[in-house]
Amino acid sequence: MSFGQMPIANGFLNPEQYKDEYFYEMATAVCDKCLMFQLIEQPTPEKMFHENYAFFSQTSKHMCDHFQSFAEKVIAQYQLNKDSFVVELGSNDGIMLKHFANQSIPHLGVEPSANVARVASERGINTLCTFFNEQCANEIKDKYGLADAIMAANVMCHIPDLNSLAAGVATLLKPNGVLIFQDPYLADVLEKTSYDQIYDEHVFLFCLHSVQEAFKPHGLELIESEHFNVHGGSMRYTLAKTGAYPVQESVNQYLNKEKAINIHSPDTYLGFKSQCEKSKTNLMEILNRLKDDNAVVAGYGATSKSTTIINYCGITADHLDYISDTTPIKQNKFSPGAHIPIKPYESFTKQYPNYALLFAWNHKNEIMAKEQDFKSSGGQWIEFIPHAIISEG
Ligand code: TMP
Repeated sequence: MSFGQMPIANGFLNPEQYKDEYFYEMATAVCDKCLMFQLIEQPTPEKMFHENYAFFSQTSKHMCDHFQSFAEKVIAQYQLNKDSFVVELGSNDGIMLKHFANQSIPHLGVEPSANVARVASERGINTLCTFFNEQCANEIKDKYGLADAIMAANVMCHIPDLNSLAAGVATLLKPNGVLIFQDPYLADVLEKTSYDQIYDEHVFLFCLHSVQEAFKPHGLELIESEHFNVHGGSMRYTLAKTGAYPVQESVNQYLNKEKAINIHSPDTYLGFKSQCEKSKTNLMEILNRLKDDNAVVAGYGATSKSTTIINYCGITADHLDYISDTTPIKQNKFSPGAHIPIKPYESFTKQYPNYALLFAWNHKNEIMAKEQDFKSSGGQWIEFIPHAIISEG
């Protein structure tokens, strides 16, 4: 399915950069053998992860709590201590590794975006600023030894050379080491029509079947799977060297669920395509009507995902007066592609708009809890997951 020409999802820019803005055709395909849902073309990693990378993990309280419990669970389940060694791929600003650092567990973050890597280093997180692959794994092994746990959260689906990554993981893990990673789950995307999970950084949308197939050739076996509501629905996969641990019942349970939603059938993806088109039509009907009524409409959260919604649906600065976001690096810039102004959060609270388009829908509970005054002021929400509606929140 093609979503048309797309800019870089986190490519917030200034007007003088408009003329050089990069676009690519964002189209997806599914492998009929391994069920890997993937982008057909992906911009080079250097275009996405660099000194001005705009995504800082610690912007949501809920995500901070989530990563704390992720870390605590791994430490307890695999009895990690000061003699262990853990590696996190795409460790961002250290949101997860700080919990290992606090317990003096030897750790290393591998993070290719220099600005976020620097923030982590300044917070005392041991961080290597590079892309992880087989060569990098060998260098880490030589310098630090083998790892008890390799973790990644919302990172694995960003790495196009999955083979090199899996080979690197197999090289770096101890015989009883584990790879634990979580990413947006394909079944959630299909069920909620959350097509905004598709953007340049997400080269893959995994399901259990595709994860098994991708890691099997490297001697790694899926031993546990656990579903979470973060990032709009995520699956956490635990893999280990084949035979090192018993395979837990959760693996069968989710494989059966995937069968039940016909994840293997081409019709499922044709149905998804028409749901995306319907979602676009319905959202634009609402936004065009509000534009005709001269309503003040603001986007809430300049998420990476919003780049897909805005550019696929054809949302412009005529529909949205601005997008409010709490991340300083995005503020006072313009959105990728449509060039809608990004304003600090204070612009939203200073003078509430009539409507707020909830781009950060995956943080809905946290946002609704803190935006009671917007609602009291008569403000209404526009939501598009799973259906486009105007709501009370
Ligand atoms: P994410 O959905 O990829 O985590 O991105 C969330 C973006 O939304 C990030 O730029 C911060 C922004 N945001 C707000 O502006 N206000 C909020 O209350 C939350 C939770 C996020």
